[in-house]
Amino acid sequence: MSYPKGDKRIADSVTEITKLIQYRDINGQNRLFGGRLMEWIDEAAGVAAMRHCGGNAVTLMVDSLKFKHGAFINDIVVLIAKVTYVGRTSMEVRVDTYVEEKETGLRRAINHAYLTCVHVDEDGRPKPIEYGIKPESITEKAEWEGAQKRISIRKQRKAEGY
Ligand SMILES: CC(C)(COP(=O)(O)OP(=O)(O)OC[C@H]1O[C@@H](n2cnc3c(N)ncnc32)[C@H](O)[C@@H]1OP(=O)(O)O)[C@@H](O)C(=O)NCCC(=O)NCCS
Repeated sequence: MSYPKGDKRIADSVTEITKLIQYRDINGQNRLFGGRLMEWIDEAAGVAAMRHCGGNAVTLMVDSLKFKHGAFINDIVVLIAKVTYVGRTSMEVRVDTYVEEKETGLRRAINHAYLTCVHVDEDGRPKPIEYGIKPESITEKAEWEGAQKRISIRKQRKAEGY
């Protein structure tokens, strides 16, 4: 696929959001409410996608949203989003969520998610993306290759009516 404006680096889309869990964010079990985390993930992914495509983007789908651990009141939560793959009008965005230890600054992964975001025009219709992506590190290349596999799974699921 050719992109008229060349490639951007994955680093160009990286978006980090830090939250302190407040009472309004927790559920009846004093844990971070999953819906709130999904909101933060969607926001982080949206910003990463817009940084890559240089325009507006909407979330088409979320997959592989896995809650590995809980988070609790007064925890520091860090979300890091980055574009991992670029198609014609769509982008795959990975969002990793961590709880940051206050004493050590160490980050423990609590969730990771893949979202598909679509570049849209002013009428909300899919619009071709003008920038490709240039995976540089081994991890970025592995993500890019993994994305091809995930995309074919999504296509299969779409064909099956999911
Ligand atoms: C996102 C939206 C504009 C896509 O419109 P559409 O007519 O379905 O678009 P297309 O069929 O042309 O597909 C657009 C892209 O999405 C991809 N796509 C469509 N369905 C898909 C699916 N089930 N799984 C994975 N990718 C899919 C297509 O492959 C295409 O990507 P590509 O151009 O990189 O190949 C439209 O579905 C929409 O407006 N959805 C609501 C978005 C929204 O309100 N989100 C919440 C708030 S942000």
